[in-house]
Amino acid sequence: MKKPNLLDEFQSTFNVINIPRMFFAPGRINLIGEHTDYNGGHVFPASISFGTYALAQKRDDQKLRFYSLNFSHIGTIECDLADLDYNEVHDWANFPKGMINYMRESGFEITTGMDILFYGDIPNGAGLSSSASIEMVTGVLLEGLFDLNIDRVQLIQLGQKVENDYIGVNSGIMDQFAIGKGKKGHAILLNCQTLAYNYAPIELADHVIIIINTNKQRTLAGSKYNERRAQCEQALVDLQTVLQIKSIGDLTIEQFESHKHLITNTTNQKRAKHAVYENARTVVALQQLQQSNLKAFGQLMNESHLSLQRDYEVTGIELDTIVQAAWDQPGIVGARMTGAGFGGCAIAIVETDKVDNFKNNVNKIYSEKIGYKASFYTATIGDGARELTEGVY
Ligand code: GLA
Repeated sequence: MKKPNLLDEFQSTFNVINIPRMFFAPGRINLIGEHTDYNGGHVFPASISFGTYALAQKRDDQKLRFYSLNFSHIGTIECDLADLDYNEVHDWANFPKGMINYMRESGFEITTGMDILFYGDIPNGAGLSSSASIEMVTGVLLEGLFDLNIDRVQLIQLGQKVENDYIGVNSGIMDQFAIGKGKKGHAILLNCQTLAYNYAPIELADHVIIIINTNKQRTLAGSKYNERRAQCEQALVDLQTVLQIKSIGDLTIEQFESHKHLITNTTNQKRAKHAVYENARTVVALQQLQQSNLKAFGQLMNESHLSLQRDYEVTGIELDTIVQAAWDQPGIVGARMTGAGFGGCAIAIVETDKVDNFKNNVNKIYSEKIGYKASFYTATIGDGARELTEGVY
């Protein structure tokens, strides 16, 4: 969908003539460090230029009206500020409702109703974090409209709480962090246990990052995501019978190898193995990038995918087909699935002048095997969640 004139849409939807304020939160890709966040490991995501726009204004009463141009068939969803409980009937609006709910619970003074119009250009269900994007855009709009003084990390944690406690997906902190703290041209190396982080410039010389959407939809809640997390938690309990560790992310590869026998279930052992090796790869990946060793970085991306395929088992035929096809092309540096898996997107680093050829070949191989086409986008790494102030409707 081409971006509509959002001001016109706001005024006609809510039948008002005022000029609302406008906010934006991006989606994200993760360069490496997958399924490590809830295991107390490292991740290396970046916010992208696709995201969620929100136009919002306060009302004089206590009514909340939500409308999304992406779900226009659902129409306007209304509720009262005094009734912010999860409500299945409110569908997608539970994400902003959850955010308003937890911000109020945390003592922030949100005292009036609001009219809010959303529009997102993140492909739906593609694993680029459209849900964290809507949580974080709601966070910054509340911060702006009600003049709140909120620490950004607290806002990020409230977004994660919406996902975990309100929506019921046991996800880690990576998505909200990448979106809340994103920086143009940079990825973020985040230690998910301590929340210490640093920015790394992504300067790829004659290369670009291509996002490849398998167009196989995934839904986190319905997927095996929570099961993977539970398997890792059980592996940790087994390891803790001997080791004094807080999370799997505390383990070096050597420590894991000499204690893996403690994990009684062989499936859980494979899950933990992925978490340990992936965490180690992520830390090394940053070092390689800092030394401009793109080839080694790409190699780590490839190893990450294989580990997610064989040990974590979250890829599936669509992602494996597309990543293998990417690996087989001239000009490829590295490719892997990104996000939770089970469909959604892969990313590939490709030589700029080989991109057209790359897309054609990969799409041909993919559609012949899977029966439908993939979509390709060039990733632009943009800033994190914020108010937009310059004529951008
Ligand atoms: C989803 C979750 C994140 C993270 C990734 C996998 O995107 O929301 O917290 O666990 O999957 O790395």
